[in-house]
Amino acid sequence: MCGIIGALGTHAVQDALLGALQRMEYRGYDSAGICTLDVDRFHQVKAPGKLKALREKLREHGAPGRIGIGHTRWATHGEPSVDNAHPHLSEQVAIVHNGIIENHHRLRKQLRERGCIFTSQTDTEVLPHLLQHKLAERDGNILAAWRAMLGELEGAYAIAAIVRGWPEALWFARKGSPLLLGRGPEGVYVASDALALAGLADSVMYVEEGEWGCLGAAGVELYDLNGHAVQRDWEPLPMTAHSAGKGGFSHYMLKEIHEQPAVLRRILRAYAHDGTIRFDKARFLHEQPLPERIVMVACGTSYHAALTARYWIERYLQVPVEVDIASEYRYRNPVIGANTLLVTLSQSGETADTLEVLRMFKRQTPDNPTLALCNVASSSLARESDGLIELFAGPEIGVASTKAYMAQLAVLALFTLMLSKRAGALSGEDVSRHVRGLERVVHGMEAQLADTADIDRATRLFADVHGALYLGRGPCFPMALEGALKLKEISYLHAEGYAAGEMKHGPIALIDSTLPVIVIAPHEYQLDKVVSNLHEVQARGARVILIVDTPDADWAREAEARITIPQGDYFSTPLLVCIPLQMLAYKVACMFGTDVDQPRNLAKSVTVE
Ligand code: M6R
Repeated sequence: MCGIIGALGTHAVQDALLGALQRMEYRGYDSAGICTLDVDRFHQVKAPGKLKALREKLREHGAPGRIGIGHTRWATHGEPSVDNAHPHLSEQVAIVHNGIIENHHRLRKQLRERGCIFTSQTDTEVLPHLLQHKLAERDGNILAAWRAMLGELEGAYAIAAIVRGWPEALWFARKGSPLLLGRGPEGVYVASDALALAGLADSVMYVEEGEWGCLGAAGVELYDLNGHAVQRDWEPLPMTAHSAGKGGFSHYMLKEIHEQPAVLRRILRAYAHDGTIRFDKARFLHEQPLPERIVMVACGTSYHAALTARYWIERYLQVPVEVDIASEYRYRNPVIGANTLLVTLSQSGETADTLEVLRMFKRQTPDNPTLALCNVASSSLARESDGLIELFAGPEIGVASTKAYMAQLAVLALFTLMLSKRAGALSGEDVSRHVRGLERVVHGMEAQLADTADIDRATRLFADVHGALYLGRGPCFPMALEGALKLKEISYLHAEGYAAGEMKHGPIALIDSTLPVIVIAPHEYQLDKVVSNLHEVQARGARVILIVDTPDADWAREAEARITIPQGDYFSTPLLVCIPLQMLAYKVACMFGTDVDQPRNLAKSVTVE
């Protein structure tokens, strides 16, 4: 999703802007641009497509100046084009924006009536014109003008701006989209992502919801929604912001798949000691009465992790669990009730719908606790929740989530075990046994990564197909949803995940000899029933790829391809299914030659609803 950078440096900022945009490429974008201000003149360069195109243009028309803004755009209003790319300019103001200005039609009409000429189809273009009018109305009092502009906006925004006549100030505002400030030896910065500031800033300041202000070399002026000055300290740039390379792997996604054993080891070291599981940033889980109900809300892959955890929690803790997609939950007037714990799950912690669910939940039931399972400890979701269970997956750059998903499953297993022990549903010995099971997954995953011959054979079955069906039962039903999502995200093949028992109610009509059916069939979850479903699809000529921990069973030998996984228990089995699902999608995508790390149309962090 869109990335913002603003820089005020001790010398020319063009390279700093470009470097920051490059570090935000992983977020997904389809055009980019920068604008600098030099001796009262704007230098704007924009290009559709990847940053390479922008760099080429900049070689012809440089962008001189010690102050500037840059943007990678993920199109919402209007196609990716030079005109629609940010920054957007009026005579006096240049602005970059993330989010959506919902009342832009009305503002555009008003501004047109006052003589403004628009050149793009974007909602953002109203902003520079609006600010310019506010400046004129307020005799050049820019603080008053900036505040008046914000007062007219509906929707979500993170904004950075430079203004002719103020060559030493970066203007910014945040409502609904993340934004932070940075300070380093060669300048000060505004960015939508801490990763953008790696190598530029050594300290950061998070702009909170509704805040706005201006940043100069001498310091920051920060105000809240009501215009009251806010004092906040700078804090060190989080270590996780230092952008990681591909480490010799051909793609970030492959590197991140390979990091999973280390991530799991890190999680177990952080949270499980001698049979005791402890979450220090979510102390209320240990101290307050157990919740009577748990609501888990997330999007995409994070939602799939929550679906698997529902099986664990309901079976062991025996507390009702509701799981929903954030964009649905926030608009369906949910009945929340007392003693309900909200668990939000998010790799980025900036997903707009998930964040809004958290805020809505807190508004409606301020006495209920909220817990974030999140990979970015400095994110809005993590900071606004009562408790945090950090995923410790490290920066995830590939758009397709892999290691963060496995990390979510791992912490959800520990969360279930800890609460189940508190509830008396599991003994200390039970918990230790399951933790040992999770520890064995580390070695299981290492073995899976060391030998992918099974997955290579299965990949070849996708050479001439148009889609795939994934089937599973119990905790592996959501794994089927996730396997299908991974495949479609990066290979662009249509794929469906289904509960194996539900197949007869419709999708069985799809089955013929051209459809690969990936059946997730570990011994833990109603294997006899999964085997019946397997026979049903085989009888209709499907090409079956089995993910199986009993590969020598007669029924397993009949599959066209078998991917063997180590045997696990009720908690650890889904973790052992992650690598085959991710690797299969990865290898199929590579076979088709897609852009694995930045698949078309997708954004890493979905900061607009
Ligand atoms: O950062 P989040 O976990 O909140 O993101 C949620 C989804 O956007 C994300 O999981 C998405 O589905 C990924 N592309 C999956 O690979």
